[in-house]
Amino acid sequence: HRADNPVHYDERQRSWQVFRYVDVAEVLGDPARYLADLGDLRPSNPELDLMQRGNFVNMDGPRHRMLRGLVSQAFTSKVVTALTPKITTLTGELLDAVADRESFDLVDALAYPLPVTVVSELLGVPAEDRPLFRRWAEQLFPFNEEDSNVAGTQDAMDALIPAVREMIEYFRAQLDRRRARPADDLTTRLVEAETAADKLTDDDIIGVITLLLTAGHVTTTALLGNAVLTLHEHPEAAARLRTDRDALPSAVDEVLRYRPSLPWLTRRTATEVTLAGQVIPAGDVIMPWLVSANRDEAKFRDPDVFDIGRRPNQYLSFGHGIHYCLGAPLAKLETRIALGLLFDRYREIAVVDDEFHHPFAMGGAKSLSVAVV
Ligand code: HEM
Repeated sequence: HRADNPVHYDERQRSWQVFRYVDVAEVLGDPARYLADLGDLRPSNPELDLMQRGNFVNMDGPRHRMLRGLVSQAFTSKVVTALTPKITTLTGELLDAVADRESFDLVDALAYPLPVTVVSELLGVPAEDRPLFRRWAEQLFPFNEEDSNVAGTQDAMDALIPAVREMIEYFRAQLDRRRARPADDLTTRLVEAETAADKLTDDDIIGVITLLLTAGHVTTTALLGNAVLTLHEHPEAAARLRTDRDALPSAVDEVLRYRPSLPWLTRRTATEVTLAGQVIPAGDVIMPWLVSANRDEAKFRDPDVFDIGRRPNQYLSFGHGIHYCLGAPLAKLETRIALGLLFDRYREIAVVDDEFHHPFAMGGAKSLSVAVV
């Protein structure tokens, strides 16, 4: 498709599929012409609408900037690097729980619980409430192929409502608690920002928190699993990393390029646009394929080769432009720490079985059985 039909209309998805690196980068990099807000395409209901009020990944313009600005301070490289000891402890605890096992499901034991625990730590959610978080995150993210349709079906959305309602109530109580008793966490800083700015409400904050929870969870789970799987498939790269831990950051980048957690994103055209010679009417939906852009031979030399020393490596797995993933430094740090601890604890890590999500829904494993020595 990339060569002969780089931008083409898919009847079933009712959207324009974009495959080349240049075109994907253009769609993501021009927020005036390609909107993140899909508008009336998304199913509606009071609870979901409430959550959408803070869901800035689907917004354009000043409101996106305002809401992103609220949390961006908590995700800078510097702040995130300071979380290293905490993430190391959490990762160690999760691995301790399977220490006597010769094989285990890496997703269940580590890749799934780690990201949600880190986000709940950031937010200051009490440890005993973590299972709740895990359940909500699970229910909020649609995985099967039908649900991965651009805006999701009304039925799929309706099925989420009980979890959404429960979560909204939970966070309202958390916000009240922080107002009464401030703590050193992101939830308190959001409440303080609300007091300082009159434009911000509890509902906005709940939407922002929900976004952090959902955006930061399954994507990182997928990355952790992909890292272990890809290194299993490339034992020479794994061997090099074991002795040269400084190569971990570029190896994690290469895993992200090679197996992006999110295969595609969505945008909607604001005006009529011409992309790769193709005229696209105003209001149409566009799906830029990250997984294809990352393998574009016009951008990457030997794109199908997994090369942990690849430089430069401008993959698009965290998006591009104003919506560039806020959690990128955090997700990369978690993966570096997890791989480092796995190498410390085990001489050999072999993937013996795997089960993947539908490849159009999520680029990652549902389960990954590993045999360890
Ligand atoms: C945005 C991927 C981890 C928070 C994005 C976008 C992508 C992405 C592709 C852009 C979406 C778009 O343009 O439509 C990933 C991947 C991750 C990851 C692959 C893990 C490997 C995280 C984590 C957090 C997070 C750990 C936070 C805890 C966000 C937020 C946005 C975002 C808040 C919205 C930014 C904005 O709209 O301005 N992510 N993400 N992500 N991500 Fe991540």
